[in-house]
Amino acid sequence: MGRVVVVSNRLADPRKPAAGGLAVALGETLNATGGLWFGWSGKIVEASEGGTPGEGELHLQQAGNVKLATVDLSRDDHDSYYLGYSNRVLWPVFHYRLDLADFNTSHLAGYRRVNQLFARKLMPLLRSDDVIWVHDYHLIPLAAELRAMGCANRIGFFLHIPLPPPLMLAALPGHEWLIRALFAYDLVGLQSEADTMHFARYVQAEAGAEELGNDHYRAFNRTVRVSAFPIGIDVDEFSRLAEGKEARETYETMREQYSRRRLLIGIDRLDYSKGLPQRIRAFQELLASYPENHRSATLIQIASPTRESVDAYADIRHELEHLCGQINGDYGELDWMPVRYIHRTVARKRLPGLCRVGRVALVTPLRDGMNLVAKEYIAAQDPADPGVLVLSRFAGAAEQLREALLVNPYDVQGTAQAIQQALQMPLEERQARHSKLLERIRLHDVHWWRRAFLDALAQTPT
Ligand code: ADP
Ligand code: G6P
Repeated sequence: MGRVVVVSNRLADPRKPAAGGLAVALGETLNATGGLWFGWSGKIVEASEGGTPGEGELHLQQAGNVKLATVDLSRDDHDSYYLGYSNRVLWPVFHYRLDLADFNTSHLAGYRRVNQLFARKLMPLLRSDDVIWVHDYHLIPLAAELRAMGCANRIGFFLHIPLPPPLMLAALPGHEWLIRALFAYDLVGLQSEADTMHFARYVQAEAGAEELGNDHYRAFNRTVRVSAFPIGIDVDEFSRLAEGKEARETYETMREQYSRRRLLIGIDRLDYSKGLPQRIRAFQELLASYPENHRSATLIQIASPTRESVDAYADIRHELEHLCGQINGDYGELDWMPVRYIHRTVARKRLPGLCRVGRVALVTPLRDGMNLVAKEYIAAQDPADPGVLVLSRFAGAAEQLREALLVNPYDVQGTAQAIQQALQMPLEERQARHSKLLERIRLHDVHWWRRAFLDALAQTPT
């Protein structure tokens, strides 16, 4: 197999704490394989800085084994491609939030323009035997643009977020064009079996696609394979991090500070898909229904800032701040605050310490492609005395992590009961569940994911 070329909107900067499953997983993958990583530089060029709008400058940089090639975006392109179509349209619709989608069709032109720009800049950097791996919802039409420029390489696509059911997809401006663009790939990877089922039903109903068997579909004169490749984490690396100085320091300090408290933790980007208000309400319900938790249970919720120029994100931030203030006002004591809400990104080296000190982790998204925090929590536990994972049945991870306590995050009372069950779970049951979960995340870790996807891509006919 030739060189692997990864294309994604955002590249990981190894010098900064990375927040976002894509950045974390690909950083590890590219280090292991070497290759070229192409994407947005993170820089926005204002009109006053000159240059042709939409024609971003290309930057080339060597980072260890990996060559990084990035382009700048003009303010207009960034606003319509990234903030507009990607995050005001695709993100909410793909997370089943039609109510939050901005159906203004003007974003679509910028989305197409940036995908064309990426294809134009990438094309001269390609070798004929490169295998191209495109990531996530920002870049769905990239292969179609590359093919239009004559690119005959194998091209794979992985969608890190959920693919919604056909009727929900049909609410999307440009949905026919978008799904047709997927047929320009040789392989499309999705996170879960539910997602692949949605794809099959959509293309049969809306595109008259023929199902050829073995996950192959034919439409628009092309054949594409669409399969589930649930993304994993690097379990060994995360467990090693848990033994490191920073993680141990975090663990010891917090254990001392909260010596008599039962700690619950939540670690997320501050995204409306993560179900944070519902989680806080479930914790409130726990305190109301099980008073033995007063002065004892404490929820530490770390939420990293994300996409703040999109209104829905500012709204969720205010809602969360209000709810945390309310619960602390209603239940707090001079020496006990029920909720510690921190609007920040935690340094990656400290994260396993935080995971390990939490007796219970609350991973309760309303919808999530996979959710890597659930897997990181399992990897960070001490197998002799592990904590309990309370996991939303609507996270892609729930298809694999059956031994977690699965909840419906909309059901606040049911979630509160599950939290209580987690807090009271006997050691033996915690160990039995944890060892099963650990086995599962080891079997399907990030290395398995990369190999399975790239092997399947290599086997597709050209
Ligand atoms: P998403 O991709 O939607 O952000 P995931 O749970 O799949 O959700 O991946 C999130 C990644 O970012 C995980 O590796 C997690 O550890 C990291 N992360 C999320 N929130 C924070 C935070 N507040 N501080 C530090 N790391 C975070
Ligand atoms: C999710 C998406 C990624 C994205 C990340 C952070 O993990 O699947 O594509 O990079 O969130 O979001 P941001 O908008 O900051 O890139």
